[in-house]
Order: sequence, then C-alpha cells, then structure tokens
Amino acid sequence: MATTANQTLTALYPAHLDTVKAHYDEALAAAGYDSIAIGAGSNIFLFLDDQSYPFKPNPHILQWLPLLQHPESVLLYRPGRKPRLLIYQPDNYWYAPPELPDEPWAQHFDIMTVPLLNDIDQALIQLDGCVAYLGDTAQWRHDPPLADRNPEKLLKHLHYYRPFRSGYEIECIRQATALAVPAHRAAEQAFRAGAAEYDILLTFLASSQHTENELPYPAIIAKNTHGAVLHYQHYEREPGDSNSLLIDAGCSCNGYASDITRTYSYAPGDFQDLIDGLDDIQRQLVSRIAPNISFVDLHAWAHEAIGSLLQATGIITSAITDPVEAGITAAFFPHGLGHYLGLQVHEVGSSYADTTGTEIERSARHPALRLNRTLETGQILTIEPGIYFIDSLLDDLRTKPAGKAIDWAKVADLKKFGGIRIEDNVLITDHGQENLTRPVFAL
Ligand code: GLY
Ligand code: MN
Ligand code: MN
Repeated sequence: MATTANQTLTALYPAHLDTVKAHYDEALAAAGYDSIAIGAGSNIFLFLDDQSYPFKPNPHILQWLPLLQHPESVLLYRPGRKPRLLIYQPDNYWYAPPELPDEPWAQHFDIMTVPLLNDIDQALIQLDGCVAYLGDTAQWRHDPPLADRNPEKLLKHLHYYRPFRSGYEIECIRQATALAVPAHRAAEQAFRAGAAEYDILLTFLASSQHTENELPYPAIIAKNTHGAVLHYQHYEREPGDSNSLLIDAGCSCNGYASDITRTYSYAPGDFQDLIDGLDDIQRQLVSRIAPNISFVDLHAWAHEAIGSLLQATGIITSAITDPVEAGITAAFFPHGLGHYLGLQVHEVGSSYADTTGTEIERSARHPALRLNRTLETGQILTIEPGIYFIDSLLDDLRTKPAGKAIDWAKVADLKKFGGIRIEDNVLITDHGQENLTRPVFAL
C-alpha cells in the first residue's frame, strides 16, 4: 500500500512541478523580479533559552518539494533554469543533521549541501539581477532590501493560485485522509470505552503514526461541554463523564493537510438526533458544491437548514418564522461553513478576486465567512457546519426578543454535550464535487 501510494505521488510530481514553475514564472514577471530565493525558515528559540519551538517550514517551499525538516535551507529559482537547492547540513553532534533527500523528486533539483550558514549567505549575496526573498525574514542575514522581502505583489499573485490543487496535491490530501480516518475510528472506540481526552489524543497519534508536531493543526479532542469551545486546546487527563466527543483532527502528507471533524453521542437521544440532522444537512451541502457556485449563498443555505433543524427538534418553538433573520442561527452556528485546504489548514487566497489580490468584500450578513471567492474546478475546501451550546452567545440571545422563541429547558438539557461539528474535505470537479472524506470512513 505504502509503495503504491509513493509510486502514485512520484508519477504525479513532475506535472505538479511544471505547474508550480509556471505560476512562479508568471508571478515573478508581474512583480518585476529575475529570480527568487525561497527560505525553508529558521529555528525560532524560546526567550532566553537554547531550545527552539518545533520547526514548521515555510509552506511556499513545501509546494516545490517536501522538505519538512530542513531549517535554513534555501531554494533558488530563475525561470527557465533547473531550480537549485541549498541544503543546510551542519556538522553537529547535538542534533541529527537533516538527511539528504534521495526521493525521486530530488532529480529535478541541483542539490548542494552547505555546512555553514555563512556559505548560504555568500551564495545569496552572489545572486545577480533582481532577487525576491520569500520566507521568514530571520533567514536573510545578508540584509537584502526590505522591499524585496516577501514583496506583496508577488505574494498576492502566488496566493491567488494556491487554492488550485494539482493531481499530486490532491493525492497528498488523499493520503493525509487515509491516515486520519482509521485514527478517527480508533479515537471513537477509545471514547466509547470511556477514555480521557488525553488518552484519545494518544490513540489518534498512535493510529496515525504522527507525533503531535507532525499534525497539520493541534487536534481538538473535546468531550462534553468542551465541544462548545470551537478550537478547544486542552487534553483533560481524567476521563470524567462520556456524554459526547467532538474530535477535529487531521493528518499530514508531504506538508498537505486533511482537516476532519466527527461528533459522537455516547447514547441515543436528543443529542444523537441533532447529530443525525446535522449530518444530513452536511451531506446536502456537499452535494451542492460545483464550479461557480457562490460559497456565500451556500453558507446562507446552511443557516436556513440549521434553522429548520432547530425548529424540527423543538429547540426553536414554532413562534418564530425566520430564525436566520432573527439572529438565532448565528448564536448556534457562529463560524464560517468552510475554508480552502492545502499546505495550510486555512489555505491562503480565500478572498482574492484576481492575481493582483483584489479583495472580495466580506458578506455584511455573514462576516464570519472567510471564503467568499467563486469556487472553481480543482480547488479543495472543507464543509463543516456546526451547532453549539455556547454560554456567552446563548446568554446574549436570551436577552433579545428572539430569545422568547427558544425552549430554554431543552437547551439546558443539551448543554452537557457541548456541540456538534461535522467536517469533510471536498474536491471541486468539472461538473460537481468529490467528497474525499466520507468514502474513506465507509471502507
Ligand atoms: N481544524 C480547524 C478548522 O476546522 O478550521
Ligand atoms: Mn476546517
Ligand atoms: Mn477542522
């Protein structure tokens, strides 16, 4: 399986590299640069300490090649030439130096190992023509002009293209999904056996063979009321009650992320009914995805559907005719319906109308929605509706006229379950969409 998966990536990689080069050629020409130096990033040290934070590479370099553990390395590219890779490989007996790549992609680069940072600086100083520097500025010790560090015009151009995925990138996200789904299943089993959040996290990591640092984002393992905190970040050591589990956790493959959420009720009842209702809405939302649809309209439809579900389950009494207009659905579903997914979990470029980075205005009605760009074939996005029992939002709703339409006793009973989010990753195809997540859960 692993070998077949690797062979697939190897076969898809050359066309991907051609696409990346084409985007860079266009962006460099538009921004007036002859070449570019892309930095992997530097180790960032804790205040007054010799220990560094976990290294997270510059996503721009990861799009070229999966150089995951190579701080200070630099990729040099001049349109029309073979890209050159300066791999920083210090002679160090405190830490294992980064390995030299022997994967098939390495043949597409001229690779030089450099043992001293000063030699990297010298190589950069010797570059001729107009050079753009892309990446964390701490890496540019030779002090290039400020205007040439992450020039906005160049970045906007590159970021406009980022949501479009090549076949190689789609395969990376498929593999990141193939790792995450069995780990979600193992996490569900641990929850049903009464495990604590901390132990559920360890189960997820062991099943996916990831370290915590390798996850594309901190796993959200939220039991009971913790599900009401959208990005809950703790891992309770004590098992406590097991009413519900909201797990939002993904895996990585070559720097590309999967971003998956499931919610479980321990027992049948009102909360399970709400999960089933939201699951049905989520499937309908996914089925509506197609090129050129407005994501703002889809988000608005999600609010309508959630309003109907809240009415059908008796959380909203029939006294109110339009729960969206009355602001009720916003109190239960306070985040955006989804976002582009790729090298970053919240991929850049989600509000750009064109390669100059013209910002599409956020919807005044739905300001929480960060993705407002027209959907196009080849993009991958998440669809993640939710229903939560968040004290501060509900307290606010209670003071409004619309609060009279809520069955507060029912809400009080449901609070102990925290909330529900159901999140899949969806590829936009020529005529519709492919859900990358559900079929893997069905295997
Ligand atoms: N995992 C973060 C999100 O779903 O946006
Ligand atoms: Mn997400
Ligand atoms: Mn998520």
